[in-house]
Amino acid sequence: MVRGGWRSAVFRAGFLRLSPTMDARGGDSHRAHLLDAVDGVVVEVGAGTGATFRHYGPAVTTVHAVEPDAQLRAIAEAAAQDAGASITVSDGTAEHLPVASGSCDWVVCSLVLCTVPDQQAALAEFARVLKPGGRIAFYEHVRSEGRALGLIEDLLTPAWSTIAGGCHLNRDTLTAIRSAGFAIDEVDRFDFSPHPASPAVAHISGTARLRRE
Ligand SMILES: C[S@@+](CC[C@H](N)C(=O)[O-])C[C@H]1O[C@@H](n2cnc3c(N)ncnc32)[C@H](O)[C@@H]1O
Repeated sequence: MVRGGWRSAVFRAGFLRLSPTMDARGGDSHRAHLLDAVDGVVVEVGAGTGATFRHYGPAVTTVHAVEPDAQLRAIAEAAAQDAGASITVSDGTAEHLPVASGSCDWVVCSLVLCTVPDQQAALAEFARVLKPGGRIAFYEHVRSEGRALGLIEDLLTPAWSTIAGGCHLNRDTLTAIRSAGFAIDEVDRFDFSPHPASPAVAHISGTARLRRE
């Protein structure tokens, strides 16, 4: 979790520096596509600088954006002022969302489930805040299927995670979403190179629905 200290300063500086490049190479349109079906009451987890905010459409009534890093949150608060949708930005984590149980139509995750310390705890928290049949919209990088690249991601993850705010290069996030009691409605799997120095690595974008018990 990103809560102060040199690691969060390194992560934040790197993230702020690299984000414009990633967005120009396709990240911004991936985020716009992420929100295509999103409507009603939304909690956006790990909102960062609020890069998704301008993509929320008129079908969205309220966005509760949650971001644990104080400096990123301040940038997101400014972005919320300029957005068309009604957005509040709060401190909190994916594992402890400051939102009432059963109150949300959607949980939005953009490049966050790679980073949360405990994916299953986060996904259980998403299930708590969603209304029955509520949905997750996710855009995440995941472990690559190619043997060599997947192995390189495994090897690099401990060091990468230290300097990148806890980010894992090698998570099987789709399986984690299914294991947490969600049914995948749709998913695109594609390779994306976020920076000229990065190989194209596996990403997923899609929606999943809370299964009824
Ligand atoms: C790679 S950034 C993505 C930011 C933004 N969603 C985007 O698409 O640009 C990961 C974000 O997750 C946040 N984060 C880290 N740990 C978290 C946690 N446990 N719960 C929620 N967000 C977390 C970080 O502070 C950071 O803003």
